[in-house]
Amino acid sequence: MSELYPDSHIEIDGIAARYYETFLNLVTVGKYGRFIDRAIGDMEIEPEDRILDLGAGSGYNARFMAEYIGEEGKILGLDISKEGINQFREKFNDKLNVKVENMRIDQPLPYESQFTKVLTSFVIHGLPHSAREKTLENAYRALQRGGRFYLLDYGEFELSDLPLYMRVPFRIAECEYAYDYIARDWKEILEQFGFEEVESNQYLGGFTRLMTAKKPGPG
Ligand SMILES: C[S@@+](CC[C@H](N)C(=O)[O-])C[C@H]1O[C@@H](n2cnc3c(N)ncnc32)[C@H](O)[C@@H]1O
Repeated sequence: MSELYPDSHIEIDGIAARYYETFLNLVTVGKYGRFIDRAIGDMEIEPEDRILDLGAGSGYNARFMAEYIGEEGKILGLDISKEGINQFREKFNDKLNVKVENMRIDQPLPYESQFTKVLTSFVIHGLPHSAREKTLENAYRALQRGGRFYLLDYGEFELSDLPLYMRVPFRIAECEYAYDYIARDWKEILEQFGFEEVESNQYLGGFTRLMTAKKPGPG
C-alpha cells in the first residue's frame, strides 16, 4: 500500500496489520478487549441496525458489533489495508450481512441516507484535519435522518496530565496529527458538521472516549 499521508501512523498494512490486535492487547495488558466491548455496548446497537464502519481494519470492532446485529441488520466496513481486509473477510466469511470493501474514507463515498449508525474507531486522530473533514462529511451523508455517528478515539487531554504508562506509549506510537487531535474541541467540530445531541462516554480514565452525535431527524 503506498502511503496517502506519509506522516500518519494509522495506515497499517502487512505484518503490522496482521499483529495489530495482539499488539494492542499486549500494550494494554489485556484491557483492550474489555474497553472495546464496553464502547461497542454503549452504541446501543439494535438487531436491525445498518452500520458503516469507516477504517474498519481487521474487523476487530465489527466482531463485537456483529453480536448485536440480527439477520435484518448489516455491517459494512471500509478500509484500504489489504491485510486488514483479508483478516476482516476471514472473520466473517460465513456471514452474508457483514462485509468489507476497499475504499478510501477521505474521498466522497457513494452512500446517502443508507445507514442507521456510522462508526469510526481510532482512525480520525491519525488523519490530517482536511481528511478528517472529508470523513465527517461522508459519515453525515451516509446516515439516515435521526441516525447516530460514533467517534471512538482518544479523549481531549493534556499529555502532561497523563500517567506515565499512558504518556509513554502515546509518545512512541503517535504521529503529529494525534497531538493536533487531542487539542481540538470535537463537540464543536461535530456540531459544525450538522450533528446535534453530542455526548461522550469516557474509558481508561479519559484516555479514550466514544462521542455520539445525532443527524437531525426523528429517532
Ligand atoms: C489504527 S487502525 C484502526 C482499525 C479499526 N478501526 C480498529 O479500531 O481496530 C486504522 C485503520 O484505518 C485505515 N485507514 C487509514 N487511512 C484510511 C483511509 N484514508 N481510508 C480508509 N481507511 C483508512 C487503516 O488501513 C487502518 O486499518
